[in-house]
Amino acid sequence: MEGIFTRGIHTLAVSNKLHQLNRSRLVEKLRQVTSSKEKSVVILQGGKYETRHCTDHEPIFRQESYFHWTFGVEEPDYYGAIEVDSGKSHLFAPRLPESYAVWMGKLKTPEDLKARYGVDQVHYVDTIKQVLANLKPDCLLILHGTNSDSGKTCTKTSFDGLNEFNINDKILHPIISECRVFKTPLELEVMRYANKISSEAHKDVMKKVRSGMKEYQLESLFRHYCHYNGGARLLSYTCICGSGINSSVLHYGHAGAPNDRTLKNGELCLNDMGCEYYCYGADITCTFPISGVFTENQKIIYNAVLASSRSVMDNVKPGVSWVDMHLLADRVHLEHLLKAGLVKGNIDEMMEQRLGAVFMPHGLGHFLGIDTHDVGGYLEHTPERRSEEGLKSLRTARKLEAGMVLTIEPGIYFIGVLLDKALSDPIKSKFLNADKIDQFRNFGGVRIEDNIVVTETGMELLTNVPRTIEDIEALMAEGKNLDIKFPQQKISVNSN
Ligand code: GLY
Ligand code: MN
Ligand code: MN
Repeated sequence: MEGIFTRGIHTLAVSNKLHQLNRSRLVEKLRQVTSSKEKSVVILQGGKYETRHCTDHEPIFRQESYFHWTFGVEEPDYYGAIEVDSGKSHLFAPRLPESYAVWMGKLKTPEDLKARYGVDQVHYVDTIKQVLANLKPDCLLILHGTNSDSGKTCTKTSFDGLNEFNINDKILHPIISECRVFKTPLELEVMRYANKISSEAHKDVMKKVRSGMKEYQLESLFRHYCHYNGGARLLSYTCICGSGINSSVLHYGHAGAPNDRTLKNGELCLNDMGCEYYCYGADITCTFPISGVFTENQKIIYNAVLASSRSVMDNVKPGVSWVDMHLLADRVHLEHLLKAGLVKGNIDEMMEQRLGAVFMPHGLGHFLGIDTHDVGGYLEHTPERRSEEGLKSLRTARKLEAGMVLTIEPGIYFIGVLLDKALSDPIKSKFLNADKIDQFRNFGGVRIEDNIVVTETGMELLTNVPRTIEDIEALMAEGKNLDIKFPQQKISVNSN
């Protein structure tokens, strides 16, 4: 179908109108800060073709996020331009060699690309300088800025002859980042889809969990479900499948800790996994008992986190500060830990001493979109990053506004180094019941992570997985009827 991204009739069809709308929002904002007497042209560079190290192995290409937001092009080595005064859009496609048709498939013509991507004109990259010169721009607007999550600077647009133009690298980055913070109805539809597929995949995994499996087998089940059923070839981030004490390792699952522990009855498992569809992602965490039934201690911690998650959801609406939501989650956690005898004393004093950060060192949540930690958390016009423990990990300190998509992901973790540090701190240790905490040393942690959209009156929950203890146990009990086989014998490599 022309002008549509889809992965089959069972998946979501996304119209290129999504990007036409994004481009018109962008030029509308740019017109407010550029002079109408000057002709400005936005020029963006898409992601480049890359191979693994020095080999010819090609990892699956994923478009650069700002370029995807603006043009929705699926392939590497493109450029795109927008004339700010008229809104007219241009794509520049790489001129591919004839051999492409032999090895890679049919060469697309400029007419094919124009119909697919819904831009006004398509040219080849090798004509970029001439095409731009013919527009007679007073100024080219290029992207230059730092990502407040990674600390990395986005790659500046470059092509032979760029220096012959007047360049402004100041105004585009903050404006396009601000546009990306607010999702349009067309973007929300894609995000609902990524959430739906990821939610279903989490449920499928929970039904198939068995003691004796490896954590990576849960990752594998999730990945298969999303691709097979949802057409989602890529995930939003590396799966975190932490069982037992690994559930307190916040970014577990990386190459040095590759989800390779064996699941054991009696322990919790924390699965933080989300798929990406058309570059829009989900970011969902489910924590559940491997046996399918919570122990008493697991219930205490799980219910504390569920209570904070739902208190935050009850309070989310436009005008509310995200910092206040983090503090609310901390307070609810401490109230539950006090009731359970893990902490002692006055909650207000604990809050003053930032005791909540001992148990939840990360931020309550973050913007979500084309990037898992989506842009716009800290811009020039937004509140600065706080310096207090816990709050300094927040990826934004902004007030909520309708159209923002965020994760709400409170957690309580028993992290050895943080507990030891707090127990040896003369002030913090006064609030800690050391003996009781020692009983939780190998507990791990609980995180509950949902994705939401802020609406005019409150919020819409995008994630749909069982959250109460009863619902989780019921789903897992249902899964016990499935005949699940997983490898338990060493695979023989003998030829006979
Ligand atoms: N999975 C990364 C995060 O929750 O932020
Ligand atoms: Mn997550
Ligand atoms: Mn997250």
